[in-house]
Amino acid sequence: MRFVLGVRGPEWETQRYRQAGWVLLPLRAFLGVTFAFAGLQKLANPDFLNASSPASVQHQMALLAGQSPIGPLVRLSLHVGSLTGILISLAELAVGVGTLLGLRARLAAVGGALLALTFFLTVSWNASPYYYGADIVFLFAWTPFVAAGAAGVLSLDGWIAERARSAAPTHGRGGTTQQELAGTRERRAIVTAGAATLLVAGLTAFVGRLAGGTASTAARKQLTPNRSRQATRPSARPSTDPTQSSAPQRRPSGTNVGPVSAVPVGQAAEFKDPATGNPGWLVCLSAGKFAAFSAVCTHAGCIVQYQASNKEFVCPCHGGVFSARTGAVLGGPPPSPLPPIHVAVSDGHLYVD
Ligand code: FES
Repeated sequence: MRFVLGVRGPEWETQRYRQAGWVLLPLRAFLGVTFAFAGLQKLANPDFLNASSPASVQHQMALLAGQSPIGPLVRLSLHVGSLTGILISLAELAVGVGTLLGLRARLAAVGGALLALTFFLTVSWNASPYYYGADIVFLFAWTPFVAAGAAGVLSLDGWIAERARSAAPTHGRGGTTQQELAGTRERRAIVTAGAATLLVAGLTAFVGRLAGGTASTAARKQLTPNRSRQATRPSARPSTDPTQSSAPQRRPSGTNVGPVSAVPVGQAAEFKDPATGNPGWLVCLSAGKFAAFSAVCTHAGCIVQYQASNKEFVCPCHGGVFSARTGAVLGGPPPSPLPPIHVAVSDGHLYVD
């Protein structure tokens, strides 16, 4: 008498393996799209490689070097900041495309996990509690794909393997073996996907630069320092309340950044902080009352954006939220408030220092 119950052959194993691939498909699609998008977004951002911009990769690396456990490595990479930025973008794009196509899916997953680990040790290192930083979640989300790749589901890896299996006889034309045929197909797929990725990356970078150039000249509420009314030497910044009323006063020290009328009540305008050269935000809290802050997020150096509807600054990178009244952190990973900038009103003009 033969007992067959519980006997599970290779076919059963293959089925289970593919089932896992289908179950993980939504996560795979999310990771693939997110990493591809992140790479393209960096390439399309004209400020990303512009070392003089606070939104640049160089600026962010310099900021992170002092607060990361791999700071020495970050400092070393700073010598080739632009190249590092390009490599990060292309690596993200390659990981995303490889994951979506299921081409060298395990290798792509290893790359994704390494990128996530690097971001966790730098960008998210100071997130508190730790789960506010997304990178640790990405790191663990890659682990099933490191182990199983695309599991043969909707993947070029699976297609290539299937073609190799079904290729008969064992020797192809000209005496080519089955393995050699599979290797040739895989190389072709990698070269095609690589060329397509580079083409998309190049086009994105080109369009991004064009769009960036257009955007920089587009109408955006921006205060421009008025040189004719600029004081010769900025005074020291007070560490107290950054708001300032328009009560009569003598002409203040600092830089005249524009007329009061340029910032209506409840609105904000960007200006260049004369002390650091970084962007700042000037907010009109109520009639004649203003507050000014550095626009550089205290988490990883991204530029915060003003939301008039709830009078908050929101960081586009990791969702940090700051009060537009006090600069205090209202949510997200930033470890400290936005640095206040002293603002004063005189003769209908705004002065910062
Ligand atoms: Fe991370 Fe702003 S840079 S929240």
